[in-house]
Amino acid sequence: MCGIVGAIAQRNVVPILLEGLQRLEYRGYDSAGLAVVKEGQLQCVRSTGRVADLRERSAATEGPLGIAHTRWATHGVPSERNAHPHLSNDRIAVVHNGIIENYEELRASLTVAGYVFTSDTDTEVIAHLIHSHYAQGLSLLAATQVSLSELVGAYAIGVVACDEPDRLICARRGSPLLLGVGIGEYFIASDVSALLPVTRQVVYLEEGDVVELKRDGYRIFDAGGAQIERPVQTSELSNESVELGAYRHYMQKEIHEQPQALANTLESVCNSQSLVPGIFGAEAAATFADIDSILILACGTSNHAGQVARYWLEELAGIPCRVEVASEYRYRVSVPNPKALVVVISQSGETADTQAALNHAKAQGHVHTLAICNVPESALVRLSKLRLLTRAGPEIGVASTKAFTTQLAALFLLTLVLAKQRGRLTEQQESQYLHELRHLPSAVQKVLDLEPQIAKLAERFADKHNALFLGRGMHFPIALEGALKLKEISYIHAEAYPAGELKHGPLALVDKDMPVISVAPNDALLEKLKSNLQEVRARGGELYVFADADTHIREADGIHVMQMPEHAGYLSPILHTIPLQLLAYYVALQKGTDVDKPRNLAKSVTVE
Ligand code: M6R
Repeated sequence: MCGIVGAIAQRNVVPILLEGLQRLEYRGYDSAGLAVVKEGQLQCVRSTGRVADLRERSAATEGPLGIAHTRWATHGVPSERNAHPHLSNDRIAVVHNGIIENYEELRASLTVAGYVFTSDTDTEVIAHLIHSHYAQGLSLLAATQVSLSELVGAYAIGVVACDEPDRLICARRGSPLLLGVGIGEYFIASDVSALLPVTRQVVYLEEGDVVELKRDGYRIFDAGGAQIERPVQTSELSNESVELGAYRHYMQKEIHEQPQALANTLESVCNSQSLVPGIFGAEAAATFADIDSILILACGTSNHAGQVARYWLEELAGIPCRVEVASEYRYRVSVPNPKALVVVISQSGETADTQAALNHAKAQGHVHTLAICNVPESALVRLSKLRLLTRAGPEIGVASTKAFTTQLAALFLLTLVLAKQRGRLTEQQESQYLHELRHLPSAVQKVLDLEPQIAKLAERFADKHNALFLGRGMHFPIALEGALKLKEISYIHAEAYPAGELKHGPLALVDKDMPVISVAPNDALLEKLKSNLQEVRARGGELYVFADADTHIREADGIHVMQMPEHAGYLSPILHTIPLQLLAYYVALQKGTDVDKPRNLAKSVTVE
């Protein structure tokens, strides 16, 4: 969701900006633009096409200082006039990620002051506001600082001025931004992947930081305005990890990376003989001893991971668990319980609703917090007392795949640690579960081998407009996840139901045109599920069943069965996720959609 890149160097920065934007494309965007300062002039180019189009349009643009942006529309439709950078009087240019909540009143007062607005965005007020202070004689840094103090909302910004060829100003509050450190050149970006071609030395900015970058160094000022040092870190992200390689799409690559991602996430645990709370942080043992329940807050796919975990936590660890959609929880009047462990789950760690939900929980008196997250330096990790990092590696495809299965693995570890601490796990069970976790990557690999069959099956969905997903128990959230994957990348309307709910309404939708996809693990609910499937078949519904070995669900007229290699007990939801990801992927190929960048969606939802 909106990407920022900026650079100050002794060379032409346009190729750096464009390459950076290309690498941020996965975040989702509908327009792009850049501005460079050269010889006292601001040159600005914008496009409503892809970054490739912006590249063509910028062929004649160059300069040693510049900012660039991919925009995901919030205020104002996607159009060239609303694309960033936004200029004030052709002297100051601003790129912005986030939402300014008091932009209407600022716009009104700036209009009275004589500023003419040429876009519908909230960002343009930032450009004019900075200009208004700069015109009063403040330095660009001071003008930016004063302007920021007048803004209400979330932002990461980059600012340049044509009269300041040796200065790039940036700031963050509520939206991610980092600095890249080169030799005699410095960069800013929304995430590290954008800067990998130029540097791996990065400085993660804190909330409220404002930075002045010059060619011979930079100064960081904290939220209180005091100059401060922040550590320079070497990013472990490699270029290969963000490159497509031999795959057709990032989503396909990331589906196939799951065995390795799971092995990496489970590495420390699988190498040891027993589970210890310490994997969640130094204070975990004391925290876990003090809690009486779990409250999980997350959005989208991450929320589905939480919903699976609820079954595990209550059944194995005997601890009450509630799972809430973060965007609802943040505004809901709920009953706080300071003895609850608040668990936030997020791939990006920057999802605005999840951050707000965590802050809301804290404000309500919740003190025990744990982040399960894929990005170590992210806001959610920093805001939480405990953490367990999934080690899925960068996830570029908008549809979350390897992040989900590694979240599940992390949540299973949480379940086992809590079960052990609460005296509900014998030594023998512990070593059995550790054995199953060690086996998990190869079990996932076997499911991936179903790919050619699933690709074939997907052809049957090419002309479909609706689909129903069924699951029971801890596989119901997997049905939800399967439906979400299908709708987000193939644009087929898909719903998921616990199979037992069918006759309470959705059965009315079933006819020969409604494919019904069912997750059929060989568990205690199997016979119940089989009856539910009969109900579908009796109404002429076409069934697609992902069935474990020994379920005895057979191919028949209108029943297509994909045989899953093995039943994985409690870890079965992880295995059953894989074919649904592959199904969504191949159906999207049939439909010819933009798999990695589905319409209207962004990878990291950093605005409300
Ligand atoms: O980064 P997060 O895990 O916090 O993101 C939450 C959702 O936006 C995300 O899972 C979304 O639902 C995915 N695009 C689904 O594939």
